[in-house]
Amino acid sequence: MKTAFVTGATAGIGEATVRTLVNSGWRCVATGRRQERLDALVGELGADKVHAACFDVRDREAMEAAIAALPDAFAGIDLLVNNAGLARGLSPAQEASLDDWQTMIDTNVTAMVVLTRKLLPTLIERKGAIIAIGSVAGNYIYPGGNVYAGSKAFANHFTLALRADLHGTGVRVTSIEPGMVETEFTLVRTGSQEASDDLYRGAKPMTAQDIAEMIKWVAELPPHLNINRLEPMPVNQDFAGFRVAREHH
Ligand SMILES: NC(=O)c1ccc[n+]([C@@H]2O[C@H](COP(=O)([O-])OP(=O)(O)OC[C@H]3O[C@@H](n4cnc5c(N)ncnc54)[C@H](OP(=O)(O)O)[C@@H]3O)[C@@H](O)[C@H]2O)c1
Repeated sequence: MKTAFVTGATAGIGEATVRTLVNSGWRCVATGRRQERLDALVGELGADKVHAACFDVRDREAMEAAIAALPDAFAGIDLLVNNAGLARGLSPAQEASLDDWQTMIDTNVTAMVVLTRKLLPTLIERKGAIIAIGSVAGNYIYPGGNVYAGSKAFANHFTLALRADLHGTGVRVTSIEPGMVETEFTLVRTGSQEASDDLYRGAKPMTAQDIAEMIKWVAELPPHLNINRLEPMPVNQDFAGFRVAREHH
């Protein structure tokens, strides 16, 4: 039985991924800050299938302690799903909160590279795989994207760069860069259930399960195949257009 380490498993894409992988025969280390949600996953899927590792990914010591405390059955990692992440705010850069920016960089950039570096030895030993959840925000610019967009461009590019460094190791690396997925993401971003409902209303966004199925598909491909990047979007979403500001005379 193979073991996946899934960050951000208390909600949205990560939670759906743990359920989907376990139902397909994997063991999962499920991480997040909300212990009660991790406990619920263990209760639902079984303690032999899911190990709950409750820590804040921005806390390097807590992350190291959680890795060191993995039970034997969960200690060899075959798949790292770098999924934990968030957006805060939609303000233009000139009005944005520096605390929000710091939170996004610490979570989406720093935590991801630290965790990846920590797990590379076991991933190389087991000829495993890394799947990172970047975003279309890293590929296309939209107003108010600023640091979230920058952090996801980093995620997309860091993941592709890993592919080059892991040349010859047998480790597979994939960057999944989704468009709009209906999760708690927008609630976290805006702090408002109303704004979140408003964004998704009538848009037919992708579901967390859609992305979880892609993760499972990539993870279970034959070992000689590598998907470098996937960029799924809902049909109703497309690219931002160019804008021209007019001078007023
Ligand atoms: N939803 C979208 O439209 C969309 C589109 C493209 C990419 N993405 C990316 O997909 C990934 C998953 O997002 P989602 O849509 O599933 O959002 P979500 O439902 O809000 O889930 C985010 C997950 O990240 C975890 N997390 C956030 N900060 C954390 C921290 N400091 N320490 C530990 N865990 C933390 C949360 O756990 P706790 O709160 O329990 O800690 C939660 O499990 C993110 O990287 C996001 O950028 C989302």
